[in-house]
Amino acid sequence: MSLPEPVRRDTRLDNYVDRYAARAHGMTASAIRALFAVANRPEVVSLAGGMPNIADLPLDAVGSVVHDLVVDNGRVAMQYGSGQGEPMLREQICDIMRLEGVVAHPDDITVTVGSQQGLDLVTRIFCDPGDVVLCEAPSYVGALGVFSSYQCDVVHVAMDEEGLDPQALTEAIGAVRNAGKRVKFLYTIPNFHNPAGVTQSLERRQQVLAVAKAADLLVIEDNPYGLLGFDGEPIPAIRSLDADTVVYLGSFSKTFAPGFRIGWVLAPHAVREKLVLAQESATLCPPVFSQFAISAYLAKHDWRSQIKIFKEMYRDRRDAMLAGLSDHMPAGTSWTVPEGGFFVWVTLPPGLDSQSMLPRAVTARVAYVPGTAFYADGFGSRHMRLSYCFPTPERIIEGTRRLGEVLEYEMSVNETFGTAIHQGSFKPYEAPGANQT
Ligand SMILES: Cc1ncc(COP(=O)(O)O)c(C=O)c1O
Repeated sequence: MSLPEPVRRDTRLDNYVDRYAARAHGMTASAIRALFAVANRPEVVSLAGGMPNIADLPLDAVGSVVHDLVVDNGRVAMQYGSGQGEPMLREQICDIMRLEGVVAHPDDITVTVGSQQGLDLVTRIFCDPGDVVLCEAPSYVGALGVFSSYQCDVVHVAMDEEGLDPQALTEAIGAVRNAGKRVKFLYTIPNFHNPAGVTQSLERRQQVLAVAKAADLLVIEDNPYGLLGFDGEPIPAIRSLDADTVVYLGSFSKTFAPGFRIGWVLAPHAVREKLVLAQESATLCPPVFSQFAISAYLAKHDWRSQIKIFKEMYRDRRDAMLAGLSDHMPAGTSWTVPEGGFFVWVTLPPGLDSQSMLPRAVTARVAYVPGTAFYADGFGSRHMRLSYCFPTPERIIEGTRRLGEVLEYEMSVNETFGTAIHQGSFKPYEAPGANQT
């Protein structure tokens, strides 16, 4: 039988528009996605993407691990597995978390398809439409997407250079509850924040936890970057301070490789039971082959030294980014100084708008992510996220030089013609109707 060649039917007309579930309405493609196709061209220095840089991964060692796995244990590794995740890997995960002071039993771990799925499962089991989730201002764009797809109301809480502000957290909880809304949890990224680049001190973690406990609030601690600190020992995880109030999300994406898509959730036992049921209905089981491969890699390879290699490579790139910013940013620009991870958060001089400026930046062959991507409420236009994880140090410096020229140009245009931009700064939560009285 000869079938016709498939034709790509690229139309914006959607005949199903009135049939989608309400939760699908929050799923919209970002307005900047189209620009990123251009931003990925080789002549553009992309300081936009947050992809881990796995150039230094020892492919021969990983290759031999995978080869041995297929030959010696392929029929198990390629079969369905446990919905909770493979016991051997869960034990190894417990050893890894000890590096950040977390004492956990393997039975309290659910393996997930990256920590992104951990976020999805946690939100799925806790949140009804209209429930409030508290997040830092700004917060991880992938988490905001999950919260929106479960129709949660995101309320942002201010940060300073030490991360989430406990006083602002207290006020946000009070304001939301006074408005008669239910807060389900606080979502926080304590280490090398994506996108803000800041880290909570131990004291700050204790304060945040104390506020959460006093308010009987669950804390979701998302920690994919914790072992990628450039100096000193890791700061103890919030989960190391309290096993009952904290649900901890971990990932192998940044310390090994994201393509295996393996992360985990460590949760109080009753929550863990619900997570496994949710995992079974979502995937039957997390990818068994990936779990066996990571488990064998951890057992046979010196993964601690590999993380050290990653850290040194990221530290060189961070240094290049900071040097480039100091040399090329116009007066009035400021930025955070990350002590690990991938990201710097830039605050632009007044009157500049990172979103409207992006097409001009891409024309000048440099790309970034506008700050608005990291807020659920449209704020953030005076900020941008710069990633230093992927380009070489030389390219990073060249990228900041190009960006500096774009900012200078924008400022001179504003000086000549004035600016029509009305930039609100981040405002704490106001109950609906509160400003009408
Ligand atoms: C803060 C944060 N959480 C979660 C994720 C998801 O990571 P993965 O699903 O690859 O584990 C990312 C990825 O960039 C992230 O930055």
